[in-house]
Amino acid sequence: MVDFHQGAFLQLANGHDGSTIAVWPVPLISSFTMPPRSRLPAGHEHLAQILFAQGFGARRECEGLVLHGLVQVDGEVVDDPDAVFPEDRLELVVDGQPWVSHVKALVMLHKPAGYECSLKPGAWPGVHNLLPVPLRRRGLQPVGRLDQDTTGLLLMTDDGPLLHKLTSPRHHVPKVYEVTCKHPVTQAMCDKLLKGVVLDDDPAPVRADAAELVLPDATQSDTNHLRLTLLQGKYHQVKRMVAAVGNRVEGLHRSQIGRLSLPEDLAPGQWRWLDDPALVLP
Ligand code: URA
Repeated sequence: MVDFHQGAFLQLANGHDGSTIAVWPVPLISSFTMPPRSRLPAGHEHLAQILFAQGFGARRECEGLVLHGLVQVDGEVVDDPDAVFPEDRLELVVDGQPWVSHVKALVMLHKPAGYECSLKPGAWPGVHNLLPVPLRRRGLQPVGRLDQDTTGLLLMTDDGPLLHKLTSPRHHVPKVYEVTCKHPVTQAMCDKLLKGVVLDDDPAPVRADAAELVLPDATQSDTNHLRLTLLQGKYHQVKRMVAAVGNRVEGLHRSQIGRLSLPEDLAPGQWRWLDDPALVLP
């Protein structure tokens, strides 16, 4: 019988023929003392496991943070890695960093120019670099991509089904773009964009859901600004559609996804939790 309370327990190793060939003590680590998950109340977890799932490091590192008194829960230091808490929306401070746990992460980011959305960026840094380390470790994926030189609202998540819902063409999530064009935008251009233009990779026309001139003020009729709403997310779609009507994109900013507008107080490069996906879905 192995004694789990002596600070060490015995580990058996098997020879090639399956026989036991060695017995040696290994240090007790707390995971051996944890009650099985099945005995935890639904939606609850051990503190060290919560930190691990949030991206605060390997399991042992998370245990170490707790054992060293570096973790607060609801304002109190908790030094037992096996202490059990609700795993979602737990108010933590981890090594001085305030953190609210999110079992599934959904964040909005104000993407600045000069960042790539690719998971393996090349010439430019990836948008992941704008997120804090725990979220980087969790491998959040961008919900659709913005070009390196496009700015504005970008969502990122590690929730697979939600990612699918937000990117699937079947769900028709509208995206609004503020477009600065090289040449004046005419009503005829808007009409063509609304009717549909053919791009080089598909004979089926793509059409804008909305296309309107954005006039600098009520007295002027000439503008290089266009507000375009798209339901699809094809590669370079805005740039190619605008080129197809004889103009050229010089600046591109996404201001809205679904019902969610980029908050005015979210500066370029900043991110924020998005607690309710219903704020995005139409
Ligand atoms: N369409 C583009 O051409 N670029 C973007 O970044 C987004 C939409």
